[in-house]
Amino acid sequence: MIVSLCSDAAAISELAASRVADLLRARPTAVLGLPTGRTPIQMYAELVRMHKEEGLDFSQATSFNLDEFVGIGPDHPGSYHAYMAEHLFNHVNLPAQRAHLLDGLASDLDAECDRYEVSIVDAGGLDLQILGIGANGHIGFNEPADGLSARTHRVALLPESREGNAVFFGGRVADVPREALSMGMGTILKARRILLLATGAGKRDAIEAAVRGPVTTRVPASFLQLHPSVEILCDNDAAAGLR
Ligand code: GLP
Repeated sequence: MIVSLCSDAAAISELAASRVADLLRARPTAVLGLPTGRTPIQMYAELVRMHKEEGLDFSQATSFNLDEFVGIGPDHPGSYHAYMAEHLFNHVNLPAQRAHLLDGLASDLDAECDRYEVSIVDAGGLDLQILGIGANGHIGFNEPADGLSARTHRVALLPESREGNAVFFGGRVADVPREALSMGMGTILKARRILLLATGAGKRDAIEAAVRGPVTTRVPASFLQLHPSVEILCDNDAAAGLR
């Protein structure tokens, strides 16, 4: 596990975008695992800039998003479908049929999770999984619990995770769905490389526990210690517990 300290969120975003761009240039057919949340917004903006100004090409790439809320569709402004369209997909040349997201309106949610797992395998697996981290140490929506799911699954969101997402629902926690579908820990850990982005003092404890703490289901991100190729990009505030 490598921790790269960056001066601020802008520097993290530029470095993260350069990691993606380097991969796409070396391997145009790369399979990307993509996160949502506030943290990666600037990284996506930088990727859009690189596409428009430097010709960064997504035309042969494939993406799989980490998670999606249950019970809302792609047209809902709080959905991760809408987030990805707004921040990346509407602005780059990634073919829509290869930009995969979970369907939170699927009539059979378990079958939808199984379908997603198969799709990732059929695509050749994830070359690079980019992650944010919840203040409670979640990755994707793998919430702290007595046990974690290995595969893509349906999950009940903890109150703090619903609060963290209220910003995407007009600030109204009550409007944030109570459930989500998420890649599992095994799905994430099978990625060939993992890049985790963390900014701000609110992530300090989660980063300290993920990097220094024991591997525990109570801090899902701590399982990243078991992966052979993880880079964590932190600003000073998020890394403060590592000094
Ligand atoms: C969200 C997402 C996570 C994300 C995390 C942090 O709920 N499901 O994938 O990493 O919470 O979000 P933020 O970057 O807004 O702090």
